[in-house]
Amino acid sequence: MPLRSVIAGCGGCLPAQVVTNEELAARHGLDTSDAWIRERSGITRRHLAGPGETAASMGAEAARRALARAGIAPEEVDAVIVATATPDSAFPATAVHIQRLLGVTRGFGFDVSAACTGFIYALAIADAMLRTGQARCALVIGTEVYSRILDWKDRGTCVLFGDGAGAVVLRAEEREDGRGILSTHLHADGRHADILHVEGTTGPLRMAGREVFKHAVMKLAAVVDEALAANGLARDAVDWLVPHQANIRIIEAMGRKLGLPPERVVVTVDRHANTSAASVPLALAEAVEDGRIRQGDLVLLEAIGGGLTWGAALLRF
Ligand code: COA
Repeated sequence: MPLRSVIAGCGGCLPAQVVTNEELAARHGLDTSDAWIRERSGITRRHLAGPGETAASMGAEAARRALARAGIAPEEVDAVIVATATPDSAFPATAVHIQRLLGVTRGFGFDVSAACTGFIYALAIADAMLRTGQARCALVIGTEVYSRILDWKDRGTCVLFGDGAGAVVLRAEEREDGRGILSTHLHADGRHADILHVEGTTGPLRMAGREVFKHAVMKLAAVVDEALAANGLARDAVDWLVPHQANIRIIEAMGRKLGLPPERVVVTVDRHANTSAASVPLALAEAVEDGRIRQGDLVLLEAIGGGLTWGAALLRF
């Protein structure tokens, strides 16, 4: 029987500080409005990290919750793979800091850099390693502190992002019931590096929003079709779309493309804003926690980000 990577538990962690659109505008003297931000992006508020909250601390907390829900002890984990564009230090990797915070002492850990697509990349790597026997139990984490790389005078970008972390525990299992990751699909095209990038290693982040928007709608539509075709599945087979949370208009366009009613599309962008590599695992954790996504459901994950990078994963939860 072939090995499958099965999600055994999910968890999320958001910083304590919640900042509304009005508060953000007032705090930074931005020439913007709550109405503009809501209409163009769907965002009403975001969580921003305080002094003690780091990529590692939030990632570790999300992982702790995922392990608790899976009923798995840190000693069983033999791989920690972290997607982040905002590590606390150049090295050691955020994954190693998280290992230490959790008390994981076996196996290996490393970071993946693919901006907002990072979690899909990390999930694809973990899946390949689990199915080839290089690990048995992996923590796959997206954790970001974008508040540290934003230009707070640039109203075109700083209103769109938030901080947070999400995690899943993946376990290699021989299964007959079809549960597990069915396929992952990764893409990158460095010709578009300029339209969404971070200057140097410390920022700030720069984005040509309109350009990114156009690429997002086209590339996500294509990769979603690619994932379904690879599994011989029609659009109506999808139970849940868990998209990258950058802009409600992009999310709604993807839902319409799949013919999914809005209640089958998981949305957190209104409350979290864009948490980059953390957005998909945070949204997944929320929908699992509140009982929407159930065992056996077909779940489609997709994301696009700086690079450009983009990708999708199809899984039977
Ligand atoms: N408040 C008020 N006005 C703002 C503003 C803000 N926070 N930010 C930008 N504007 C202005 C712009 O300066 C522009 O003015 P101009 O026409 O005089 O130049 C105007 O609003 C319209 O800007 P535009 O870029 O056309 O708006 P938009 O409808 O494309 O929405 C984004 C802007 C950024 C919300 C949208 O392009 C977007 O979401 N892009 C994709 C972002 C994304 O997904 N990024 C992450 C991928 S991982």
